[in-house]
Amino acid sequence: MPRKKISLIGGGQIGGVLTQLIAKRQLGDVVLFDIVEDMPQGKALDIAEASRVDGFDVKVTGTNSYEDTKDSDIVIITAGLPRKPGMSRDDLLTTNAEIMKVVAENVKRTSPNAIVIIVSNPLDAMVTLFKEISGFEPNRVMGQSGVLDSSRFATFIAWELGVSVKDINALVLGGHGDTMVPLKRYANVNGIPVMELLEKKYGSKEKADEVMNAIIERTKMAGGEVVKLLKTGSAFYSPASSTVAMVEAIIYDEKRVLPVCAFLQGEYGVNGYYVGVPVILGEKGVEKVIEIDLNEEEKALFENSVNAVKNLVADMKRLGY
Ligand code: LAC
Repeated sequence: MPRKKISLIGGGQIGGVLTQLIAKRQLGDVVLFDIVEDMPQGKALDIAEASRVDGFDVKVTGTNSYEDTKDSDIVIITAGLPRKPGMSRDDLLTTNAEIMKVVAENVKRTSPNAIVIIVSNPLDAMVTLFKEISGFEPNRVMGQSGVLDSSRFATFIAWELGVSVKDINALVLGGHGDTMVPLKRYANVNGIPVMELLEKKYGSKEKADEVMNAIIERTKMAGGEVVKLLKTGSAFYSPASSTVAMVEAIIYDEKRVLPVCAFLQGEYGVNGYYVGVPVILGEKGVEKVIEIDLNEEEKALFENSVNAVKNLVADMKRLGY
């Protein structure tokens, strides 16, 4: 199998960690692109110089030229400004849409057959904009959000129950914003419903609900919690790890079932919008959107989140993108 070429557009915090994770796992040759002169070259050189100790043979290069990203198999876009304390992801709309426009035109020109994963915020709008400018088929344009949001949800559940996070399955649907929908009914520990374990732990359904609702609120605000602590930017280790899980699913054609910001064409009653839903992720990208049954309460929360995405996209269009 020829080695894959993976280009990272954006040499910031996520781009740097992504480069190192991809190199250490030898998922492909990495090209780290940024418009800032010398910076991606510096990060790439630093990471490459650890190849002996980390034991990887893949090539890691940094560049300021899109030509060096030519014919990538996978392109990951993290370019854009991160949040500062007090900002919502949506506050980044104008600045990052301007950046995404340029990125999308260049990726379309240099890697017309790539599978593209977008991480830049506001996520749901940035994926939409990339798809519209590139014209790429929806199966190969997706956003990373649900893997991270679900990992946060699972982490908080594991801490609460005092069990291994490896045994937690937890799913977050909807947009990558404050309206996201962590699904309590589907959360389980190796098949055992989390709600059942919480009820056993606390002896009442009411208290179990209260504890779960607090976990859900923390999950929804988890990105902001990190921003508030870091003060100078947003989370980057966990977004990078979450993106790598998606890259692995694609490169190894794993057919993993992961929550992905995917283009809906009638699924969940939504047409023509990018929303976080479970999909089958394999060598063709988003190979299938999985529709799960939602009860009335979950449906209402999901619709609320879809409406937030629609409003965000409408704002972007009003701004002329
Ligand atoms: C977060 C940002 C990266 O969720 O969207 O932390």
